[in-house]
Amino acid sequence: MAHGKAKEGNGNWKKFIWNSEKKEFLGRTGGSWFKILLFYVIFYGCLAGIFIGTIQVMLLTVSEFEPKYQDRVAPPGLTNVPQVLKMEISFDPTNPTTYDKYVKLMESFLKRYDMENQKETDTDFDSCPTVPSGYIERGKFDESAGTKKSCRFNRAWLENCSGLNDTTFGYKDGKPCVIIKLNRVLGFRPKPPQNSSLPDELKGRNHSHLIPVHCAAKKKEDVDKIGIVEYYGMGGYAGFPLQYYPYYGKTLHPKYLQPLMAVQFMNLTEDMEVRIECKAYGENIYYSDKDRFQGRFDMKFEIKRS
Ligand SMILES: *[C@@H]1O[C@H](CO)[C@@H](O)[C@H](O)[C@H]1NC(C)=O
Ligand SMILES: *[C@@H]1O[C@H](CO)[C@@H](O)[C@H](O)[C@H]1NC(C)=O
Ligand SMILES: *[C@@H]1O[C@H](CO)[C@@H](O)[C@H](O)[C@H]1NC(C)=O
Ligand SMILES: *[C@@H]1O[C@H](CO)[C@@H](O)[C@H](O)[C@H]1NC(C)=O
Ligand SMILES: *[C@@H]1O[C@H](CO)[C@@H](O)[C@H](O)[C@H]1NC(C)=O
Repeated sequence: MAHGKAKEGNGNWKKFIWNSEKKEFLGRTGGSWFKILLFYVIFYGCLAGIFIGTIQVMLLTVSEFEPKYQDRVAPPGLTNVPQVLKMEISFDPTNPTTYDKYVKLMESFLKRYDMENQKETDTDFDSCPTVPSGYIERGKFDESAGTKKSCRFNRAWLENCSGLNDTTFGYKDGKPCVIIKLNRVLGFRPKPPQNSSLPDELKGRNHSHLIPVHCAAKKKEDVDKIGIVEYYGMGGYAGFPLQYYPYYGKTLHPKYLQPLMAVQFMNLTEDMEVRIECKAYGENIYYSDKDRFQGRFDMKFEIKRS
């Protein structure tokens, strides 16, 4: 009997999938299935419509070129080239293979700053003042006036850190260069520092149109190991001139070049780790304990001669 029952159950199950008498599939007739499908198509269609509509309305209120909530933009980071693992530069001046990677990173970064990529005839560029001066406003943050011109930046301003005469950027003499840049922030106008907020070495200098940068020992015990630091930048100013700001973003400012500066450590103490911190100074340049690159960075040097 049990056997027969199982057979019957099996038949019911098959009947449920396709009931040929009532012409029902999974318990519903074709018309019923059609109504249900139609209902869900309309239902999900409406949901998708509401979703797309809301996003479209939101997109209408935001500009493609200017962030709507400028206050949410992170303050600019200060970064260095070469950017290396653990921020540690360690090399032997007598052995080029030990510093080759640093030199390559710097050379490829500076390629964009070659004057042949900023030709006189290139209308994307502007002849900006070559001493630090005020912001250059280039109109609204939209496409109404086309793309914006950019200031040229001649890598030769970095002098001994330009890689032009000394293609090893000082590494072959144990005098390593580091290129420093302030990260791009759309629409940001860096404000020069107040005299009172500066380290003694920078006090009393004219920073009216410049965001100065200063490098010093990170730890007290390293102060006498740093030796002489040379600074290079536009017109001999160690910092970022204001005429390169504001930045209008990738779309509107296609050829934009960030202003650069460079530092060269002329006689670091050798055969030991020396920790250095470089800081940019400005009224709206901030530092954070959580973000190691906000307005400053630090790195380690170790020069070992074999
Ligand atoms: C500071 O230098 C700028 C040019 O970079 C100049 O216009 C300004 O007059 C100078 N200010 C003082 C107080 O020397
Ligand atoms: C390269 O060397 C030449 C001659 O020594 C000098 O005139 C020029 O200013 C140097 N260029 C750089 C970028 O240091
Ligand atoms: C730059 O390099 C040249 C040639 O090596 C040297 O004579 C000059 O003193 C250097 N300049 C600085 C500021 O160190
Ligand atoms: C800045 O501070 C230094 C030292 O405190 C002082 O000698 C100098 O006169 C000040 N400069 C300005 C422009 O206030
Ligand atoms: C670097 O050179 C200067 C001047 O020659 C000297 O006073 C200083 O002690 C040297 N520093 C180091 C770390 O060698």
